[in-house]
Amino acid sequence: MKTNKVQNHCHKQQKKNPMALSMKPFIVLSVAVNVMLFMKQFSWSNEQMDENAKGVHLKEEKMRVSSSAVIDDGKTPIVLDHGDPTMYEEYWHLVGEKTTVVIHGQQGISYFSDASKVCWFLEPQFERAVIRLHKVVGNAITEGYHIVVGTGSSQLYQAALYALSPSDLLEPIEVVSEAPFYSSYPLITDFLKSGLHRWAGDASKYDKDGPYIEIVTSPNNPDGSTRQPMVNRSGGMLIYDLAYYWPQYTPITYPANHDIMLFTISKCTGHAGSRIGWALVKDEAIARKITKYMEISTIGVSKDSQTRAAKVLDVISDSHVHKGNFDGISPFFDHSYDHMAWRWQQLREAVNKGKLFSLPVFPSATCTFSGRTFGPLSAFAWLKCESEVENCAEFLKQHNICVRDGSFLGSSSKFVRISMLDKTEKFELFIQRLSIMNTAIA
Ligand SMILES: Cc1ncc(COP(=O)(O)O)c(C=O)c1O
Repeated sequence: MKTNKVQNHCHKQQKKNPMALSMKPFIVLSVAVNVMLFMKQFSWSNEQMDENAKGVHLKEEKMRVSSSAVIDDGKTPIVLDHGDPTMYEEYWHLVGEKTTVVIHGQQGISYFSDASKVCWFLEPQFERAVIRLHKVVGNAITEGYHIVVGTGSSQLYQAALYALSPSDLLEPIEVVSEAPFYSSYPLITDFLKSGLHRWAGDASKYDKDGPYIEIVTSPNNPDGSTRQPMVNRSGGMLIYDLAYYWPQYTPITYPANHDIMLFTISKCTGHAGSRIGWALVKDEAIARKITKYMEISTIGVSKDSQTRAAKVLDVISDSHVHKGNFDGISPFFDHSYDHMAWRWQQLREAVNKGKLFSLPVFPSATCTFSGRTFGPLSAFAWLKCESEVENCAEFLKQHNICVRDGSFLGSSSKFVRISMLDKTEKFELFIQRLSIMNTAIA
């Protein structure tokens, strides 16, 4: 995969980097910036945040402060290419034993969970936890929907394509999404060179007649924007990828009620390693086809993972429902929102220090869940290199920062996608280096 090449090259380059020498003065600057960042920890203010967001729990603040004592040597590779949500480890560490799950040897032996259900491998406790959390947050309707569990929403994406693709077409049905789009869509859609579907690129440029499938990703990966269907033509079928429709990333403005909606714990709770996603599907026949795909490809979805996911989702609901009685720990979405707002504040400050980079700005809205008014706090930064830099990923790579080239996301190499969900230490190192670059190369 080309992205891997970029990343490996980035690792290799660290020793021979021609920029390494010129980075020496950066180290001195780096110390200064580090001290500034440290002092700013408690004085940051985000115009997109309301007063509530500033009341971060002391214990949680301490974590951020202690990790800011990182000094950048300018050489350590900072890999922010993948959306690996390790940021969330801090919160789950605080929560401790509450999420511990014990699975006994005799448990979960059967392939089946409830053979009478459309999705016969859906664990009842996982189903209950999903419904409960959507009710607590108010981000999706679950009444009248079939829930289908998947090995991550990546598998559900494939299953939904399978379920929607007509089997009687002479040509594969075309699949589109508005650019910039999640770079895995084209890869997954065309991976097996299926006769059922094929990737057709940017939905905003799609002008063919006939049936098509459009993926509506809202908030969008990479830029965090709120999305609506783009093509709007007869014969179109929609899959809503709502991986980021959670209140730490975007204001919840309505309970989503689309025909097919995909969610994942990877981006909601951070437990990407459990590989659990779910689809809310209105139409029973489509839900059955999605289930069939899972049956044929993996004969269901790990019950162990569903059990763990159910526990984590329930703990999140508890943290909000029993607010104030949760061992002094902030409710999950409050903590995560505060942390995302803090990260975005740091990033915008670093970008505003000079003229090298820019970030998109999207309108604010009031969140029906939290009552806060704010703009998107995207899981990725969609950074543009201004001035004469044509290949932003290459440019950052020269400073040992590895990110995803915008051309993989249906856009241009002037843009890069940067994960905002990595560990705090790495994020702070990144902010320091970006600030130094931006002030040094003014
Ligand atoms: C928009 C979007 N959908 C789906 C996924 C995949 O999620 P999962 O880990 O559940 O397969 C990602 C992961 O980055 C994503 O950004």
